[in-house]
Amino acid sequence: MDNTLFENVDKYIGDLLAVEDSALKKTIQSISDNDIPSISVSANQGKFLHIMALLCHANRILELGTLAGYSTIWMARALPVNGKLVTVEFNEQHAKVAQKNIDGAGLTARIELRVGKAADILAKMIADKEEAFDMIFIDADKPPYAEYFGYALSLAKPGTLIICDNVIRDGKILDKNSTDENVKGAQRFNKMLSQNAKVTATIVATVGVKEFDGMAIAVVK
Ligand SMILES: C[S@@+](CC[C@H](N)C(=O)[O-])C[C@H]1O[C@@H](n2cnc3c(N)ncnc32)[C@H](O)[C@@H]1O
Repeated sequence: MDNTLFENVDKYIGDLLAVEDSALKKTIQSISDNDIPSISVSANQGKFLHIMALLCHANRILELGTLAGYSTIWMARALPVNGKLVTVEFNEQHAKVAQKNIDGAGLTARIELRVGKAADILAKMIADKEEAFDMIFIDADKPPYAEYFGYALSLAKPGTLIICDNVIRDGKILDKNSTDENVKGAQRFNKMLSQNAKVTATIVATVGVKEFDGMAIAVVK
């Protein structure tokens, strides 16, 4: 599929409404400088997450999958001064680069980066009875998305917004015979979401500078 029109429109919207300042530009640059995969959200998606955080008046945000801190910075900028974002990253190199970007964006006090496997950190947060989050963004490894969502519900309260990225996977989600673990993880997650009585949810398909994909958006009842 020729993606040129979608990319151009995405850039058009981004140039108007999701303009990156130097901290965000440096964060994108740090991804290529450090040979980190270019799998952060796009500028428009970052702005979308920022607006979602504003809409739910988020004081506490949880993110799974920091990479270099690009989506982290977009969301943290929607927090009030005393707000807090906890972001979880497994890869130590990614975490090191992300911390530098977070410091460079002047967000050191507002963002806490926890290094480790999402499942371990989430289990500890629940055991420690950490305060519920207003918004949770799931963007780590895809196969355990359904399990991450279960943990997220234990760290949520009525009204918490849970957003999960990459659940359409270039349309491969329709392939019932897929052997791709990421596709299978997203299929399992989407089915679980459709049957989960604790939330009301939809999936917004996304096209643009990133591959054709989708974000699941759920609100805890
Ligand atoms: C898609 S990237 C995150 C992109 C980031 N949210 C952004 O948009 O700027 C996924 C990240 O999740 C991390 N990751 C993968 N498996 C993980 C796990 N089990 N626990 C925590 N982080 C993990 C990867 O190292 C990678 O940095």
